[in-house]
Amino acid sequence: MLKKSIEQAFNAQINAETYSAYLYWSMSAWCEKNNLGGFANWMRIQAQEEMSHAMKFYTHVLERGGEVKLTSIDGPETEWKDIEAVFAATLRHENAVTERINHLVDLAIQEKDHAANQFLQWFVNEQVEEEKNVEQILGQLRIMGKQPGAALFMMDKEMAARVYTPPAAPAD
Ligand SMILES: [Fe+2]
Ligand SMILES: [Fe+2]
Repeated sequence: MLKKSIEQAFNAQINAETYSAYLYWSMSAWCEKNNLGGFANWMRIQAQEEMSHAMKFYTHVLERGGEVKLTSIDGPETEWKDIEAVFAATLRHENAVTERINHLVDLAIQEKDHAANQFLQWFVNEQVEEEKNVEQILGQLRIMGKQPGAALFMMDKEMAARVYTPPAAPAD
C-alpha cells in the first residue's frame, strides 16, 4: 500500500512529466516554425519520452494500490530568441527535474518505501543521461555560435536522425 505522502508526490510528478512533454512540444513547434525540422524531430521524441515517464509514475501508483489524480497542466513558454536559447532553457528545465527526482528519493527513504526508492533509481540514471545529452547539444550550439548558418544546417540534419526507443520494461 502506498503512503499518502508518496501518492501525492508521485501524482505531482505525473503532472511535472506531462508538463515536460508540453514544454518540448512547444519547443518542437518553435523549431518547425523556424525551419529547423531536425531539431523539431528531436524535441518531439523528447516529448514522447516525457510522456513515457509520466506513464511510469502513473503505473507505479496504480500497481501499489494508490489513487491517480490528474491535475491541470500549465501552459509552457512559446517564444525563444534562438535555438541556443531553446537548449539553454531545456538544460535549466532538466536540472530542475533532477532536483525533483532527488527530492522524491529523499522522501522515499524518509518514508522507508523501498519499492518507491528502487523505482526511482531508473529516473536517477535517466536524468544523468538527459543532462549529458542536452549539455552536449548546447555546447555544440555554442561552438558554432560564431558562424551559425552552415553549421546549424548540418546539425539540423543530425538531429533529424533521432528515433524513439521505448524504455526497457521496468524491473519493478
Ligand atoms: Fe522526464
Ligand atoms: Fe526529461
